[in-house]
Amino acid sequence: MTRSLFVSLLSALALSGTAHAADGKSLYAANCSRCHGALGNGLPGLAPSLRDAGALGADFYLRTGYMPLDDPQTHPSRTRVLFSEPELRALVRYVASLGNGPPIPHPRWRDANVAAGLTLFTGHCAGCHQIVARGGYVTGARVPALGRATPTQIAEAVRQGPYLLPRFSPKAISDRQLDDLVAYVQYAKHPDDRGGWALGHLGPWPEGMVTWLLAASALVGVCTLLARRVRS
Ligand code: HEC
Ligand code: HEC
Repeated sequence: MTRSLFVSLLSALALSGTAHAADGKSLYAANCSRCHGALGNGLPGLAPSLRDAGALGADFYLRTGYMPLDDPQTHPSRTRVLFSEPELRALVRYVASLGNGPPIPHPRWRDANVAAGLTLFTGHCAGCHQIVARGGYVTGARVPALGRATPTQIAEAVRQGPYLLPRFSPKAISDRQLDDLVAYVQYAKHPDDRGGWALGHLGPWPEGMVTWLLAASALVGVCTLLARRVRS
């Protein structure tokens, strides 16, 4: 009797241990509810409702380090991720359970069409992110470079539409087209530059310039040496 009580106590302790490591509800209460509200309805003037965010929105905002914010008046930006992998999963699951939002997308970009992606990127994204996806400025906002966004995060951003980024529905950009877009952004991170140096990704022209500069300074060096010899 006492032994079985002891055993069940032990297992209860072990259970609460694992539950604690990945308890989305308490993680939410400790880190999110002061701005988003206890039930995720949002608090006026502080933070939006999370009911439509879904696993997609939670995964994007947490894995980019956009959330949790310190100060609701500051604009989120990519920072260090505060949570461990099990904590992230638990929080994402919990936020998803608050409403009926979309699941995490899984872009199949590896065999997708980079050229079609470039066309889509030119039409929908380059106005803000520039054609080489290096980011820039639009009125009132800094547009991030896309070099650190993972394929999943690219797909999430397009569907979630954080801040000034418009939300693109599957009607505007189909899942197939999203795969192509992701393939292009992945390509833009490491365009296979012809010739050794990635000087502005402009191809052989700047490299030719550099070669000329090097050659020119070498020539000047040789001339100076020769001139010294002739004089001495
Ligand atoms: C200091 C207040 C604050 C805290 C704490 C906070 N948030 Fe936020 N959250 C915001 C604000 C403000 C926005 C709107 C940001 C924007 O896009 O400009 C936001 C946006 C979001 C969004 C996007 C919602 C949408 O659909 O547009 C998600 C998802 C989110 N937060 C999740 C979380 C989670 C999960 C936590 C806890 C780990 C958290 N937040 C903690 C203030 C906060
Ligand atoms: C109207 C300007 C605008 C357009 C058009 C736009 N974006 Fe953005 N994008 C932004 C801004 C601003 C942010 C930063 C979001 C924030 O601060 O919450 C952003 C953020 C992102 C991020 C997250 C980057 C990170 O690491 O934080 C990705 C990925 C992204 N955009 C991809 C795209 C793609 C792909 C398209 C085209 C389908 C696109 N964007 C179209 C303005 C834009």
